[in-house]
Amino acid sequence: MGKSYPTVSDEYLKVIDEVRSKLRDLFSEKSCAPLMLRMAFHSAGTFDMNSKTGGPFGTLRHKAEQAHGPNVGLHIAIDLLEPIKQQFPIISYADFYMLAGIVAVEVTGGPNIPFHPGRQDKDEPAAEGRLPLPNHGTEHLRTIFVNTMGLNDQDIVALSGAHTLGSCHRDRSGMDGSWTKNPLTFDNSYFKELLAGEKEGLVQLSTDKALLADPVLRPLVEKFAADQDAFFAAYAESFAKLSELG
Ligand code: HEM
Repeated sequence: MGKSYPTVSDEYLKVIDEVRSKLRDLFSEKSCAPLMLRMAFHSAGTFDMNSKTGGPFGTLRHKAEQAHGPNVGLHIAIDLLEPIKQQFPIISYADFYMLAGIVAVEVTGGPNIPFHPGRQDKDEPAAEGRLPLPNHGTEHLRTIFVNTMGLNDQDIVALSGAHTLGSCHRDRSGMDGSWTKNPLTFDNSYFKELLAGEKEGLVQLSTDKALLADPVLRPLVEKFAADQDAFFAAYAESFAKLSELG
């Protein structure tokens, strides 16, 4: 059975098109697509299927949630987005932040991702402690992505490929450097670099390297390294799922 989505007005759909184009302009002007994608992940990735709390409901607009450890630096993304939100008050923060994550991938050369509007904003910040931490292995990744968010093994690998974009910042995560040589291009080079092993000037988190040691996840890394179309199709499906949690 297909999923049923909320219905939104024609006016709302028109605003979404206008917001998309404002986001594209902002991201190219500020080269901030990677930060926006990280923001979108941290917005949705707090979902807990067991308590049906957290998730992509715009709660990252709350300063209290921005102050959670893994969210350091994301206030920069939220502040850059706010003037667009003010121009189009009809769009929910929940839809707006997910759309930002989708446009970030599109403008950097990644796949088009299905976007279904109609998320409602929630007033309470998400609980702290739901997002993945870098110094862990696959057990941690499965606890978070599979047992808490309700995603699967392929989603872990496909979504990890988002690290093809952007960098670690010393003042945010305590680490420095990008995963790939072209951190403003969304392609499958994250998987190629991961298989090539550690290199001077590039970073790999423990959670990235852990994918290689797992008998189920490693074949997916190899598949996505060899076949960019397969990665793009999987990423689009996994990000759409992530953006529709709850
Ligand atoms: C698998 C578990 C994950 C861990 C442990 C993790 C951890 C991190 C860390 C520590 C940083 C560096 C932050 C900084 O210093 O600025 C980072 C950056 C980033 N993450 Fe993740 N991440 C994970 C998964 C994801 C997913 C699923 C996405 C998106 C779908 C994502 C998107 C990004 C992006 C785009 C950046 C670069 C941000 C920038 O350049 O400002 N990450 N991540």
